[in-house]
Amino acid sequence: MLRVVWPINHACDLMKIDRLIISHLRNVSAAELTLCPGLNGLSGANGAGKTSVLEAVYLLGYGHSFRKGGRDVIVQDGSDRATVFAEIRVDHGRAVRRIGIERSRDGWRGKLDGVDVSTLSDLFRLAPVCCFDPGSHALMSGPSEDRRALLDWGLFHVEHHFLGRWRRYQRALKQRNALLRTNGADAWFDPWEQEMAEAATELERMRRVYVDALQEQVATVAGKLCPELGRAEVVFKDGWKDLTVDDLISRCAGWRTERIRDRERGFTRRGPHRADWRIRFASLGNVDHYSRGQAKLAALCLLLAQVLHHRAVLGVPPIVLLDDLPAELDGTHQARVIEFLRNQDAQVLVTGTGDLPADRLFHVEHGVVRCLDAT
Ligand SMILES: Nc1ncnc2c1ncn2[C@@H]1O[C@H](COP(=O)(O)OP(=O)(O)OP(=O)(O)O)[C@@H](O)[C@H]1O
Ligand SMILES: [Mg+2]
Repeated sequence: MLRVVWPINHACDLMKIDRLIISHLRNVSAAELTLCPGLNGLSGANGAGKTSVLEAVYLLGYGHSFRKGGRDVIVQDGSDRATVFAEIRVDHGRAVRRIGIERSRDGWRGKLDGVDVSTLSDLFRLAPVCCFDPGSHALMSGPSEDRRALLDWGLFHVEHHFLGRWRRYQRALKQRNALLRTNGADAWFDPWEQEMAEAATELERMRRVYVDALQEQVATVAGKLCPELGRAEVVFKDGWKDLTVDDLISRCAGWRTERIRDRERGFTRRGPHRADWRIRFASLGNVDHYSRGQAKLAALCLLLAQVLHHRAVLGVPPIVLLDDLPAELDGTHQARVIEFLRNQDAQVLVTGTGDLPADRLFHVEHGVVRCLDAT
């Protein structure tokens, strides 16, 4: 039985965006929003720029958009760069950090308190953002890559050593894949497989512990959000398929025996880079049978369980983005999501074309954002 010991990261013990400044991002030429710590609603007509505001916040947490398209599509036509700047309240509201991200032809550039950061992950750590958007139903039936990214996002924030292990594994995996493609000599594989094995052991342990910890959170969220779907549980697959890790003498041996077949395919077919996790409900069958609404609720259960866990570990929930919530869920489920997030004391940005539940409401029109109630 794995024991869950989560380190408390005091650097993040209160995290709300006070001020958000956006420039030349899609149709938003210049916008400045003073956000409230609770529910911020952004309403406006189709194409007004609501999702673009959410995208701005998302960029601070991920360095890419949640929408499809190349990295430069966010830069306003005719501009050479898009920038997002935020003042973030940390340390139980006692301190303010200033973070900024810019996309230009030179790539990404990040700033923390006015100084360039050497790695964008320093910014991402300060801006944990969780997003539910019209494409989120694909989390259930889409490629495992997206689910893995979600899992690893959660771990990145709650497990300090995760990023280092993940990078170490990815580096070694890339080398092994290059050897497979160029038909490298067997002896050249050994050091990289050894390196992969060392990183993989830790990666897998962290993922299992995390998923284990989420079981309770997922059951809690599903019980509140969609009790009609029955009891929920999370299922984790380590990426080794029929070769279970426990059966392997070592992961190194696993990759060694796979070399011939991997050479034929030109890539490493098994290992933590193929891991997956899913949510299962007692009253629902195979994921392919889910209605679109059920798939959205399932995705939300995973996301909100991560919110719950994040808050339990770090003392503060991530910022939650809900794009077009009224179009995505029926009224009952919308109300449950909002109530849940209010109880978690989460800062939320929600968009829609009509009435929205909000503590502070913004109207968006042709890329111009106006606060309707300056409370
Ligand atoms: N690179 C770009 N430069 C300029 N304008 C862009 C760029 N990319 C998208 N747009 C435009 O920006 C606008 C804002 O789109 P956005 O998706 O934010 O609107 P929205 O308010 O969320 O609309 P909806 O209600 O339809 O979801 C759209 O009119 C779109 O055509
Ligand atoms: Mg939109």
